[in-house]
Amino acid sequence: MASSLNVAPACVDDYRELARKRLPRQFFDYIDGHSYQEKTGQANVQAFEDLQLRQRILQDVSRVDTSTEFLGRQMDMPVVLAPVGLTGCFAKRGEVQGLKAANRANVPFTLSTVGICSIEELQQAATQPFWFQLYVIKDRQFCIRLLERAKAAGCDTLVFTVDLPVLGERYRDTRNGLSGNGSLLGNLKRGWDIISHPCWLLDVPIGGKPLTFGNLQEALPDAQGLSDFKGWVDEQFDPSICWEDLNWIRDHWDGNIVLKGILDAEDAKQAVAIGADAIVVSNHGGRQLDGVPATLAVLPEIKQAVDGKTKIIVDSGIRSGLDVVKALACGADACMIGRAWSYALAARGEQGVSHILDIMKKEMHVAMSLTGVNRVEEITEEILVR
Ligand SMILES: Cc1cc2nc3c(=O)[nH]c(=O)nc-3n(C[C@H](O)[C@H](O)[C@H](O)COP(=O)(O)O)c2cc1C
Repeated sequence: MASSLNVAPACVDDYRELARKRLPRQFFDYIDGHSYQEKTGQANVQAFEDLQLRQRILQDVSRVDTSTEFLGRQMDMPVVLAPVGLTGCFAKRGEVQGLKAANRANVPFTLSTVGICSIEELQQAATQPFWFQLYVIKDRQFCIRLLERAKAAGCDTLVFTVDLPVLGERYRDTRNGLSGNGSLLGNLKRGWDIISHPCWLLDVPIGGKPLTFGNLQEALPDAQGLSDFKGWVDEQFDPSICWEDLNWIRDHWDGNIVLKGILDAEDAKQAVAIGADAIVVSNHGGRQLDGVPATLAVLPEIKQAVDGKTKIIVDSGIRSGLDVVKALACGADACMIGRAWSYALAARGEQGVSHILDIMKKEMHVAMSLTGVNRVEEITEEILVR
């Protein structure tokens, strides 16, 4: 919020700055950071900045409507809250707050496997079906149990994340000691980082208990804290996962299946072949393999490869409603946002997430109006400067 009175946040960047002030550094960096040299993370945002919209005039834009139908659901705009792990560490019961804001805005919310709140806690708060994201973990019986719980909670869409057979390293997390192995001095620094943020301390560690991975509690009944869970999760990621596992998922899930983490046209074709209802063109927000392209760069060739046979969601780098419109113009049917809602949650809780969704919808409205389209389905590459 440079060069202003800083009275009210106006955009995602403002919420990022508020989150930076409110959160202990180790949690801000966990949200904000990317893997390795952070080049792909930067490229994601840059790709949206480099793309220009084509302004048109006198097109009768009196009926602009950002709503759309997606995977059998009418939603107020083609935006989905991406699965984000540990959001209950950004604000008290963060997943519930995010879900409530998404419900109010009439857009889907996705609960991460590694959320703080459980599927059942979200079910209590939900007024609309939410989506559930699954990482495949080695204990397949436990995966099946998670799918059963999601189904019982009314989830209609499974987001199956396929770009994490191993974990990319995030240097910021290592430097902050978030990955463990801290020295005595390191632990003191981390402790000071926590106690020097009293508002967050009161809200989350004191007011937001229990701070456990709610969905994984059954697997680890004796776990004491997040570090016990983290150790289990890290060793449960399954590097043996392959396309055949998709049949196994299909056998245990009869709702929509969304494959998240596709960056290659050949993989996109394979996803069509196994009958995915949608794919998420994603590089995990630049958090996995640094050096892969920005999602916007690969979107057109993936669009061509799938040839309308599956729906396309794109994420990584979306920070505004203008970016959403650009993504649709490049071939997406919908977008996911990760950091945008995480910063807003960390800064202002449910109210912040509602505000950011409202801002994005208004930005979409303006972008559609000034490029001369009234309906989401009318957004094509024609609205871009080429
Ligand atoms: C803090 C953080 C945690 C994340 N946790 C998960 C997760 O648990 N499961 C998952 O599939 N993706 C996860 N992601 C990736 C997001 O779902 C999404 O792909 C990414 O954030 C999109 O990029 P953006 O943050 O630039 O919008 C996470 C992203 C962030 C920033």
